[in-house]
Amino acid sequence: MTSQVIIDTGWRSPEFASKALDGAARFWFVTVLLGQTIFSLYIVVFYYGATVQGDFAQFNQVMPAGYIEGDGPGNIAVIGHVMFAALITVGGLLQLLPVIRRRLPALHRWNGRLYVLVATVMSLSGAYMIITRSELVAGSGFGHTALMINGAIILLCAAMAFRFARLRQFDRHRIWALRLFIAVSGVWMFRIGMMAWLGLHGAPVGFDPVTFTGPFLTTLHTLTYIVPLLFLEVYLRAKAQGSATQKLMTAIGVGLLSIAMLGGVLSATFGMWLPRI
Ligand code: HEM
Repeated sequence: MTSQVIIDTGWRSPEFASKALDGAARFWFVTVLLGQTIFSLYIVVFYYGATVQGDFAQFNQVMPAGYIEGDGPGNIAVIGHVMFAALITVGGLLQLLPVIRRRLPALHRWNGRLYVLVATVMSLSGAYMIITRSELVAGSGFGHTALMINGAIILLCAAMAFRFARLRQFDRHRIWALRLFIAVSGVWMFRIGMMAWLGLHGAPVGFDPVTFTGPFLTTLHTLTYIVPLLFLEVYLRAKAQGSATQKLMTAIGVGLLSIAMLGGVLSATFGMWLPRI
């Protein structure tokens, strides 16, 4: 009697599933790289431009609670927030580029320390703006709370990523750093999610564009960081110990999410960021 080993070399093979998962992750990252680079350019041209001209009142074209005459601490929080916004967005992209981790480890370490510090400043300045200007900041109380929870998650992930880097437990550091990147990207996801929705419907459906409240925004405020964080956990588990089927299903999920995100990036670029600069 002869025993037979059947090796599946087709689309159900573990090799194909691993390649599909890596390909989906690369597609996701390219989408994020494109969208966050455009977001950074918008911040630099619009907010840095207004700051260089000393014309902070321009902020108010975009932010209801932008520059307020006489509110020194609040204005410092707003200016710091938008100045650091471009820094954290570009810094996060640099941290994820494999070539920088491999070839320039010192840059990765210093940029990582800066990233953790700036993430802390962003969360605290954002929380300060919400607490001291809650009447003026766009959105409902629910939206404000969801954003503050996003800020708290950023603080937690930043502390854990920093701690495990100090302890030289790099596997755990990598996981917390990825969670930090996703949590930080929540506000960007909110913008592309909203613009994808507007692009899909051609009109503000499910929310009031003046008060910036409504069931759609309430849902989006929470989903923009929870869904990507869940996707990350599923991806990490599938990559580490998933079966071929789990890897394939995850690759399809990440691929579909990336296609939706690409739609949002195009919509936000042409409908929101480019017209403002
Ligand atoms: C960490 C990544 C973050 C980035 C890159 C970021 C970026 C920005 C930008 C660019 C603006 C100006 C509005 C616009 O042009 O789109 C803004 C406004 C604002 N951000 Fe953030 N932000 C971040 C995190 C946070 C967090 C964690 C909070 C809350 C805890 C927050 C609270 C706010 C508030 C309240 C405004 C003013 C909105 C208004 O006046 O209606 N941000 N942010």
